[in-house]
Amino acid sequence: MIKAVILGTGSCLPEKTLSNADLERIVETSDEWITSRTGIRNRRVAGRDEQNYQLATKAARRALAVTGIEPEELDLIVVATISPHMIMPSTACFVQAELGAVNAFAYDISAACAGFTYGLDLASNYIRNRPDMKILLIGAETLSARVNWEDRNTCVLFGDGAGAVIVAGSNDGRGVFGSNLRADGKLWNLLYMDSPESYNPDLRRDEWQGPFIRMNGSDIFKHAVRLMEDAVTSLLRQHDLTIDDVDLMIPHQANIRILKNLRERLGIPEERVFVNLSQYGNTSAASIPIALDEAHRQGRMARGDIVLLCTFGGGLTWGSLLMRW
Ligand code: ACO
Repeated sequence: MIKAVILGTGSCLPEKTLSNADLERIVETSDEWITSRTGIRNRRVAGRDEQNYQLATKAARRALAVTGIEPEELDLIVVATISPHMIMPSTACFVQAELGAVNAFAYDISAACAGFTYGLDLASNYIRNRPDMKILLIGAETLSARVNWEDRNTCVLFGDGAGAVIVAGSNDGRGVFGSNLRADGKLWNLLYMDSPESYNPDLRRDEWQGPFIRMNGSDIFKHAVRLMEDAVTSLLRQHDLTIDDVDLMIPHQANIRILKNLRERLGIPEERVFVNLSQYGNTSAASIPIALDEAHRQGRMARGDIVLLCTFGGGLTWGSLLMRW
């Protein structure tokens, strides 16, 4: 049976690093507070010529170079993002133009930190329908443009970056073989980013306070641990697997305490969980593809390994995905 495999990965991080010590000069915080509560020490912040689509395009070029696939061979470009370059057109269209991927259709998806995992499931379903497709899937964010730099509750958590994968069909037993994607819109106000102010006075809302990220951190924390655990255990059960069958888990990189709790509840040892959040912070939809690219380049996945993704973000959106590498 044809399944969707990842043929190549690539990533791109902005040049500028913002450390916890740098943040001490921006808001009332400390390296000790941030490190002990989140595990984050540094994050990258986009500068000139590092717009969302430019980071995304660089990550895509790196993934394409690994595979030898030319931009004209791409059939579809999907960008998962909640910090798009513009509201219209999609960031995917900017990437398509930059790459010269003249035969690809292109669109963005918005599922917050779960965007890349949602996107990989989407790509997998396209491949099932049309096994000859070549799909470029990117998670890219410039959340530095969307956080309130006066709000210490949020500005210390997020970072910028992009990760990309090339997805195609294969019948050698590898590829995506299961997913469990979920959402609960009733809990939207635990983590959200408002739109720009309305130019229609009738649509203006009294509670509008600016298009920034807002979060109820402790509630998000509890939901993240419980819902990711549930998403993973039910998916494994569905495929007659246990956590011991998983060679590498690549979770969304939000917070080291969330990951420690999750790891302990699942009973998976530290060495089988990929973590890089101390250097990049939470890059939302970009976090898993950046981690995938680093894990791949570090040789953390061998051909045939079972790789588990799990994710959680605003929406709420969350889920898990299994693939044989
Ligand atoms: N520096 C210093 N103090 C801070 C900072 C900061 N950067 N941010 C908040 N505080 C203060 C608050 O003002 C509050 O002070 P108060 O008690 O005087 O009102 C106090 O710290 C809160 O402390 P705690 O309750 O002990 O904080 P907690 O241990 O809950 O940690 C945190 C807060 C890190 C936000 C935690 O709740 C968390 O990690 N939540 C998950 C958030 C997350 O990862 N979101 C990312 C998006 S969702 C996702 O990707 C999974």
